Amino acid sequence: MSTLKDQFLLRPDITYLNFGSFGATPRPVFEAYQRWQLELEREPVQHIAVRAPQLLREAREALGNYVGAHADDLVFTPSPSQAINIVVRNLEKQLQPGDEILSTDLEYGAMDRTWNFYSRKNGWVYRRQHIPLPLSGQDEFLAAFWAGLTPRTRVVFIGQITSATALVFPVEQICRKARELGLLIIVDGAHVPGHIPLNITAIDPDFYTGACHKWMMAPKGCSFLYARRDKQDMLDPLIVSWGYESAAPTHSRFIDYHEMQGTNDFSAYLALPACIEFMQQHNWPEVSRQCLELTLQNIPRFAALLRTVPLAPLNSGMFGQMCSLAVASTGSATATGSATAAGSAAAGAAVDAAALKKRLYEEFKIEAPIMMHNGQAYLRYSIQGFNTQDDLDRLFEALEEIL
Ligand SMILES: Cc1ncc(COP(=O)(O)O)c(C=O)c1O
Repeated sequence: MSTLKDQFLLRPDITYLNFGSFGATPRPVFEAYQRWQLELEREPVQHIAVRAPQLLREAREALGNYVGAHADDLVFTPSPSQAINIVVRNLEKQLQPGDEILSTDLEYGAMDRTWNFYSRKNGWVYRRQHIPLPLSGQDEFLAAFWAGLTPRTRVVFIGQITSATALVFPVEQICRKARELGLLIIVDGAHVPGHIPLNITAIDPDFYTGACHKWMMAPKGCSFLYARRDKQDMLDPLIVSWGYESAAPTHSRFIDYHEMQGTNDFSAYLALPACIEFMQQHNWPEVSRQCLELTLQNIPRFAALLRTVPLAPLNSGMFGQMCSLAVASTGSATATGSATAAGSAAAGAAVDAAALKKRLYEEFKIEAPIMMHNGQAYLRYSIQGFNTQDDLDRLFEALEEIL
């Protein structure tokens, strides 16, 4: 795997253990991206007005094959935030005051903010169901989640891989039950494409968002919204532009509404086929397998160092290429929640989370996030194909020295 390091543009002096935040783009993909930008700059009219619709269609087809969805059920968005905002904004036409959105208290801060904003405005209840940590496995998670179901539940919103806690949730099971119950299902799969196998059709949500600029390694600003065919008509565009009441409608109102959002540089979207080709050329299933192995192998020693326990059993299927461990902390201004600390809080002497992150970067040149969630600090490491045991040893030794 170490030879893959040459394929990335990342600074060689930094031990990069935070792929999860914004990914990183390999050279051949970045070159494809720049070729698209050059084509745009050399003949903007031909590129944007003439060629873009067909090029975007090809990129959506490549994405659809990769994530298990029909190309016509996908639209590109710059970020998962934008994708989720399209959906939530349109729920204003569907939900009544007092209706509930069942979710967890481990969701991403930007998503919590979106739900809080629209819930306050419309009188909905955004139910952040408490998930006890550490979990004994998927069953305990499912029981804790469904304990939040009430007669007013209308929507299920669930992250497939959480951010601060880096846990993989069994969304397929959640979606199956939610569908039986007649609930609307929205999945935040920001971390999923290119990270763990994904087949959206098999999961069968109503709406699904994924970021391609994370584990698929696309240039930044490349994400998507999937909408089930029978739910597409409920979505008005977030930005009303040429695609609305289009003068030249395509076969899909969904695509017209959400793809034609005004002048844009589509290069990040158009580079997506190059990402998929890169992964194929480098046998990505094997790279991912090795990354998962490295992630799991290191959990016990980091847990011991931090005097904590893993957030789930190592064989629970709840880990991908990231691991988060609780750090005993005095907290920081970046806290994202208000609930009490997770049950697994480390027992060692408390450290200042923000100061720890700063020291890791400034003194040890290690990029690894220390994230506050629900009043608890978590150290998270991400393993990508260019990472090696040496990188994790460097993190371990730095933490040993600091703590
Ligand atoms: C669970 C989760 N959802 C969504 C996102 C992406 O959100 P944004 O729209 O800020 O890029 C992230 C990014 O880290 C995430 O971890």
